[in-house]
Amino acid sequence: MESIRGRQALFIDASALAERLAGYRHILIDIGTGDGRFVRHIAEAQPDRFAIGVDTCRENLRQTSRKAPRNALYLIAHAQALPHELRGLATHVTINFPWGSLLDGLLTGNAAMLNSLAALAQPGARIDVRLNGGALAEAGWSLEAGAERVRLMLLSAGFDVRAPAALDSRSLRRLPTTWAKRLAFERDPRAMVLNGMRMGAADRPLPTHHHKVRELFVAEVTRLVDQYYPPRERLRPGQTVWLAVDKRDWPHDHRTLAETRLIPVVLTLIAPADIQALVQGVSRTHVSQQVVVRLHREADAQGGVLAEADTALLLGYTLGHISELIRTYETRMSEVVPRHGTLHDLGPSLTHKALIARKALRERKSTVQVASETCHTPESVDRYLLDLMRCYICLKRAPQSLEQAAFATGLSVRLVAEYAALIDELGLTDDNLPELLRKLQPAETEKREPQAN
Ligand SMILES: C[S@@+](CC[C@H](N)C(=O)[O-])C[C@H]1O[C@@H](n2cnc3c(N)ncnc32)[C@H](O)[C@@H]1O
Repeated sequence: MESIRGRQALFIDASALAERLAGYRHILIDIGTGDGRFVRHIAEAQPDRFAIGVDTCRENLRQTSRKAPRNALYLIAHAQALPHELRGLATHVTINFPWGSLLDGLLTGNAAMLNSLAALAQPGARIDVRLNGGALAEAGWSLEAGAERVRLMLLSAGFDVRAPAALDSRSLRRLPTTWAKRLAFERDPRAMVLNGMRMGAADRPLPTHHHKVRELFVAEVTRLVDQYYPPRERLRPGQTVWLAVDKRDWPHDHRTLAETRLIPVVLTLIAPADIQALVQGVSRTHVSQQVVVRLHREADAQGGVLAEADTALLLGYTLGHISELIRTYETRMSEVVPRHGTLHDLGPSLTHKALIARKALRERKSTVQVASETCHTPESVDRYLLDLMRCYICLKRAPQSLEQAAFATGLSVRLVAEYAALIDELGLTDDNLPELLRKLQPAETEKREPQAN
């Protein structure tokens, strides 16, 4: 920005300005400063303040600026385009007896000018605008109507301005500006003053750590937009975005889907391999089964979990058909398809319990390994094995009937019967009881929550 000192024009940047302003808490900016007398007066009378005068006209400023005190600065700029380095600096803004485009801008509510003024001022900064009847008359306004008009424009720019007050010749004489003196000695001086302050914090320059917070906030919003509205080029033909339950959002009792955290996942409804398989004569059921499994695995890989109802909706099949496709796939492949109900461990599902028991007891795999191979949590794996052990103790050691065992364990009779079949299938006896099950023997005093199934 251009500053002036006598005949010299000096360009100063933000850091040079910051150096000049260092240590000053109060900064006055006088717009349309004329010959700069007001700024010089403030700077001399109040050395703890820094005063900046701004005007479009260099000529009038030459004399005063030549001997400007250290705490005064004169800048050449339009009120419509004030230097951005001044943003948020002013604790006090003054406009004394504007004319020309400065007065026009205030009367017409010139957006560039009002925005520039608002940006200058710190929240809570004082603003004083003095208007004289002659200049307003030239612009086609009476003093009162013009003053009220300027007040409304300043209000719209975020300045809380009180009703205009008349300035008599005594007050004008006391005011250290050239135009005030000139007016004071007129036969019928007519002038008004508007006093107010800048509202809100919107234009306050943010401290560095606030900038950091703002940057983080913007980055997070951008990430969310990217995640929920992936650019078209990131989706292949045949893919869609779907909201799946967040795998980390463990469901609580009686919680609706609306209360569960959802995350967007990209799912491949139709892949070139599906079309190829159909062309090669692979049965439609088999291809559909591959598609269903793929959808559940894709969601799982992206941190989401689909319910069978999701897949039914996406593919336009009935829920029963989806369940059947998944069940036959799991039986044929001895694999678990990750879905709401297995991953989140909802409802009865002995197929998985049997699979888990076989992997842990027959294949002697660790809990962690079984959990990862069956898409269950390690806690669920241990709980199934513990239930198996409870049933074993009731049925083989007591020995109790299915009904008695169900009563003792809190499991349903049907489930106890299924565990009984599993115990027979695995050939469990006290002589060959795997070490893992021995370790899991429930303590006699241990209490357990009754399970729905
Ligand atoms: C009547 S003089 C008042 C000067 C001084 N404030 C005083 O009280 O003695 C009005 C001043 O506004 C300045 N001015 C007019 N339009 C302006 C604008 N758009 N931006 C900055 N200054 C402007 C003029 O150059 C002139 O110096």
